[in-house]
Amino acid sequence: MTNSRMSSTDVVRSTPHVALELTWVSDDYLGRLHPDLRRFAVRRLVDDTVADLEELHAQAEHTVKGERRDGIVEDLTGAAVRRDGDQLVISGQQVMQDWERPLMAELSRIAARSHGDVLEVGFGMGISAGLLQQEGVRSHTIIESNPEVAEAARKWKSEHPDSDIRIVEGRWQDVIETLGEFDGVLFDTYPANEREYEQYVVRDAAYIQHFLPSAAAHMRPGAVLSYYTMEIDSLSRRHQRALLGYFRSIELSVVSGLAPPPDCTYWWADSMAAVAAVR
Ligand SMILES: C[S@@+](CC[C@H](N)C(=O)[O-])C[C@H]1O[C@@H](n2cnc3c(N)ncnc32)[C@H](O)[C@@H]1O
Repeated sequence: MTNSRMSSTDVVRSTPHVALELTWVSDDYLGRLHPDLRRFAVRRLVDDTVADLEELHAQAEHTVKGERRDGIVEDLTGAAVRRDGDQLVISGQQVMQDWERPLMAELSRIAARSHGDVLEVGFGMGISAGLLQQEGVRSHTIIESNPEVAEAARKWKSEHPDSDIRIVEGRWQDVIETLGEFDGVLFDTYPANEREYEQYVVRDAAYIQHFLPSAAAHMRPGAVLSYYTMEIDSLSRRHQRALLGYFRSIELSVVSGLAPPPDCTYWWADSMAAVAAVR
């Protein structure tokens, strides 16, 4: 249900909810193309954006309101940990909550599909760690930066004496170089401070972007990366381009039926896209 008008320089779209206007400020933009192709390419992008905005509205109609997130005051790496029932809170941040379990099941299924050597970054509540063990892997290396959480990971490891589990305490940025190559990687960390939040969560194409060069460097040919995508039902073009800069192909699935609580500060939709990025 969109109205459209187009001159040589403007594209305008409006729906009952949003209006979008694109002004070409330079004749150089796509200037080498035939004007018909130029118009087609730009209209397509604007129509995609309008469709995305409307879809976002439709998603928000049937989910929780969510809550404002307070800023990170103390760096997460050294901060005290509070584990109350169904969530893990570090430095005032909801770092992990139990409603993510179905999502973690999908991420674990993807990362463990070779049943080979798997790297997990971020232990959190140990939900995905347990699920990776259930999937069955040859070895399971876990990097965890917070000392209290790393201690919980070592305790968890002691409950799995027959599995090859290696807990590596430290930030992945500082320790990954020593760890060799893997068949599967599951990445699920949280920004350590507001500077990381602003860059990795707000500005980058996707939170995973800052990890991609290191992931690719430590994955064997055919190895698979899965991660917390922060995408509701598909991937943005920016996100796909970032992945395809390092990976041969990407497979997509959607985990539906998610139920974040009304006061969740980091997710509100009832689904999340899951990715298998193949090296
Ligand atoms: C969202 S939780 C992981 C949840 C986990 N997948 C689960 O199922 O319970 C994020 C974890 O990553 C850890 N972390 C954050 N930044 C990290 C980094 N740079 N390197 C390693 N671990 C990190 C946090 O301390 C936290 O334990």
